[in-house]
Amino acid sequence: MSTAFKNMQAYRASLLHFHADPAFDGAAHAWHEDGLLVVEDGRVKAAGDYAALADTLPAGVTPHDYRGQLITPGFIDTHLHYPQTDMIASPAPGLLPWLETYTFPTERRFEDPAHARATAEFFLDELLRCGTTTAVVYCTVHPQSVDAFFEASEARNLRMVAGKVLMDRHCPDFLRDGEGGVGTSADLIEKWHKRGRQLYAITPRFAPTSTDAQLRATAELAKAYPDTFIQTHVSENKDECKWVGELHPQARSYLDVYERFGLMRPRALFGHCIWLDDEDFARMAATGSAAAVCPTSNLFLGSGLFDFERADGARTLLSLGTDVGAGTSFSMLQTMNEAYKVARLKGSYLPALRMFYLATLGAARAMGLEGTVGSFAPGTEADFIVLDPKATPLLARRTAQRESLEELLFALALLGDDRVIKATYAAGTLVHSRT
Ligand code: GUN
Ligand code: ZN
Repeated sequence: MSTAFKNMQAYRASLLHFHADPAFDGAAHAWHEDGLLVVEDGRVKAAGDYAALADTLPAGVTPHDYRGQLITPGFIDTHLHYPQTDMIASPAPGLLPWLETYTFPTERRFEDPAHARATAEFFLDELLRCGTTTAVVYCTVHPQSVDAFFEASEARNLRMVAGKVLMDRHCPDFLRDGEGGVGTSADLIEKWHKRGRQLYAITPRFAPTSTDAQLRATAELAKAYPDTFIQTHVSENKDECKWVGELHPQARSYLDVYERFGLMRPRALFGHCIWLDDEDFARMAATGSAAAVCPTSNLFLGSGLFDFERADGARTLLSLGTDVGAGTSFSMLQTMNEAYKVARLKGSYLPALRMFYLATLGAARAMGLEGTVGSFAPGTEADFIVLDPKATPLLARRTAQRESLEELLFALALLGDDRVIKATYAAGTLVHSRT
C-alpha cells in the first residue's frame, strides 16, 4: 500500500454535527442517516452521506462499520474540578459549607504530585468513558497539580484547558497563595499554553477568595497573555452573592466585580451565572464572555435554576459544565437531562438539538475554538464519539419507536449516560472503547 493515505481512516454511521445555534438559525445542524466521516492525520477531511463520499476513499481505506450507531463531535465540558473527583456526592447544606467541609481538605492532598497524577489519570479515564474529549478544568493552588494534569493529558494527546487556582484570602492557610500566585501562573502559562493540545486557563477561584491586589495582578496577567482562557465562578448561590456584595459594596453586581478588574473578555468562562440580571447578561454578551451552565451541581447544592430564556434574550454565549465534584455526574448526557428540567422549571424549553449543540459547537464557540474542535468542518481536530441508541434495554425499546431525530437525541439525553458511549476518539485515535 502506498504511504500517501496511510493516516486516513473512515467511519460509517449516522452523523450529527452543527454549523450554527439551533435556537437562532433554522439550518443549524447536519444529519446524515447513512453517513461517512473521513479522517486524515488526526483531522476531519470530510463528513457527509456515505453514498456521496464512499467513492472518494482511496483503494485500501475500508470504512469502520458503526452502522446503527450515531457519531457526533466529542462532548465539551466547560466547567469542572479534577481534584474534586474523590469527593463527588458529598452532602452539605449549600455551597459555602460544602467548600469548608469537603472541598478544601480534599484539595490539600494535591500538594503531593503522585496523588495529583493518579487522580488526573482516573479523571481523564472517566471523561473519555463519558464521551468528553475537551474539558475546562480547575486544578488546585498547587502548581504541581497543574503539571500532573497536563502531563497526563499530553500523554493521551487530548485537547484540554486547565489552570492553577488563585486564592489568597478567606481560605485555609494550607491552600493560600503567597505573593507569588500570579507569577507562578505566568510560569505555568509559559510552560503549558499551546504545548501540543494543552491550553491554559487563568483561574481565580471566585471573588471572595482573592484580595483586590490578586484580582488586579490576575487581570494584568490576562492582558499580557490575551489568548489564554480565564475561568471563575459567579453568582452561584445567594449567600455567596450577599458576601460578595459586602466585600465589594461599590460594584453594581457580583459580575461587575470581575468587569471592574478587567476580567471579562473573550475566552473568559463564568461558571453558574444563576443570579445574574439582564444588565449582567448584556455585559456577558458585549464582552464576549461565556456562561458555563452547571445544572447537576446547581440542583445538588440547591444553588438555583439557570435562566436560559434571559440569557438567550441577551445572546450570551452559553455552554454546559458538569462542575464535578459539586456536579453529580461526569456525563454530559446526564448534564443535558438536568438542564432540560431546569429550563422547564423556569418556564422555558430546551430542545435536545440545542443541548447537543451546547455540548459541542456551542462550547467551542464559547471558547473561541470553532474550527479547532466541536464540529466536523474540514480541518477540525478529529475528536468524536460513537453513541449507541441500544445501549440499554430501555433505550433500545424507546429509540426503536422514535419518529424524529429530536426524539432520538432526547431519549439519549434523558435516559443515557456513560453506557451510551461505545467509543471515543481523540485526534483520530481510539482512546476509549466500551466492551
Ligand atoms: N465556588 C468557589 N469554589 C467553588 C467550587 O469548587 N465549586 C463550586 N461549585 N463553586 C465554587
Ligand atoms: Zn466549579
